[in-house]
Formats: sequence, structure tokens, C-alpha cells
Amino acid sequence: MNSTIQHQLNHRTKRFFEKRAVPEETLEMFLDVINRTASSNGLQLASCLRITDPQQKAKISQVCQQAYVTDCPELFIFIVDVYKAKRILQAKGAETIHCHNWDQFFKGAADAYLMAQNLTNAVESCDMGAVYLGSILNDSQAIIDLLELPELTFPLIGVGFGYPMDQPELKPRMPMELRLSENTYQVEEDYLELLKDYDQEMTHYYDTRQKNQRSDTYTNQVVQQLTQTHPRRDKILQIAKKQGFQE
Ligand SMILES: Cc1cc2nc3c(=O)[nH]c(=O)nc-3n(C[C@H](O)[C@H](O)[C@H](O)COP(=O)(O)O)c2cc1C
Repeated sequence: MNSTIQHQLNHRTKRFFEKRAVPEETLEMFLDVINRTASSNGLQLASCLRITDPQQKAKISQVCQQAYVTDCPELFIFIVDVYKAKRILQAKGAETIHCHNWDQFFKGAADAYLMAQNLTNAVESCDMGAVYLGSILNDSQAIIDLLELPELTFPLIGVGFGYPMDQPELKPRMPMELRLSENTYQVEEDYLELLKDYDQEMTHYYDTRQKNQRSDTYTNQVVQQLTQTHPRRDKILQIAKKQGFQE
């Protein structure tokens, strides 16, 4: 097994970091990795913001409702960015209407998520750790205002990273057979039965992990998380429309 795969199979989210700064040359390397990421049609409709201002970090942390965001030595926010493309079209006197399509949004979203994952892989390959922050979507309008994002941009995900303070346990995954179909989607009769062993494994994981121990299972988590919504997260589509994306 090569070292890339070793690192990928050893992935675990790290949320708590030493105060130690990430060296400039390491950061430069990570920026190259972000920029080298594959991009839909080569259009590069995604960008990122490096958040260095402690006050900005504190405000983002409030949106995320996760105090540890403030202490991430590095914090990047990845965004859909069709704004620059529109400016190019305008400068060339071209029609801009198609910039506003959802198609461009999804191209930018794919690019942004891939950039974030590429960064995370790079971070983990350097024996550092990272945490994704989907929680910026708790209030995407607040993030848009805070980062002064222009039209045709949209914040998707944050990545906090640095030198980790701890080594959390590996979080088990459901059997791959339940996530892999061949040629056509495999519908199963009884998911609770198929997930019984995995639920037991997760109970053990929640029970014995170092932090935030509790009695829980995977299927209970599905119930808990998918039987309620976050009032502001319900507005994501509306806010993306306000940013200029439309049918
Ligand atoms: C799209 C996405 C958004 C996430 N958002 C958050 C977040 O806001 N805060 C957080 O602490 N972890 C976040 N995570 C981390 C997940 O909670 C974590 O990946 C999951 O529980 C599995 O644990 P593991 O990564 O340690 O294997 C996010 C992960 C993904 C893929």
C-alpha cells in the first residue's frame, strides 16, 4: 500500500489544534495543490478565502456554532465563483445571461468541494489534521455579508487545519456493499437488518471514544438528524437565488 492510500485510509476529522502556525512554505504548497485541482470544463468557477483576521474567525465561529473554529490556525472558505467569469464576458461585450444558470452553480460547487478535499488530503499527507465546516451554511447570508461576496458567488464549505492536538478514534463506516451497486441501483428489503452489525459497531465507537461519549447508533443518528431542519439552512436555495443564480 502506498503512503497516499495509507493516509486516506487513516482519515479522521481533527477539530483541536496546537497554537503552532503552519509554516509559510507548507502553506504555499497547499495553495498549489488547491489551484491544481481538476475543474469542470477547466473554467475554474471556484475560489477560496483565507481567513486570518481573528474577528472574522470569531464571527464565522458564531455562525458555525462551533467554538473550535476560532482556534483553527488556518481557516479557508471555499466558494462557488462565477463572478469573475461574468466580468470577463462583460469586458468582452458578450452575453452574460447563462452565467446565472444553476448549471454554472453546480460546476462551481463541484470544483469548490474538490478543492477542499484536495487540500484536506494534502494536509493529512503532511501528518497535520483538518475539519470540514459545512456549518457555515447555518447562515449563508451572514457568511456572504461577512466575506463581502459579490453576485454569482456562494460559500459552500470551510476547512480548518493545523497541527492536531489529539488523535481521535477512526469513525466506522457502513459496509461498502451498501454503498456500491453495479450498473443499476441496488434496492434492499430491510436496511435496519443490514445495518444491525454496523449499528453495534457505532454503539461501541460512541461509547468508548475519548471525547463526547454517548449512547447512540448510526440509524438513530439518521432519525435524529433527518427529522428536523435548521431554520436558516432551509433558506440556502433562496439565498443562492439572491446571489443571482436562477432557472
Ligand atoms: C461536507 C461536510 C461537512 C462537514 N461539516 C462539519 C462541521 O461543520 N463541523 C464539524 O465538526 N465536522 C464537520 N464535518 C466532519 C464530519 O462530521 C465527519 O467527517 C464525519 O462525522 C465522519 O468522521 P471522520 O471524518 O472523523 O471519519 C463535515 C464533513 C463533511 C464531509
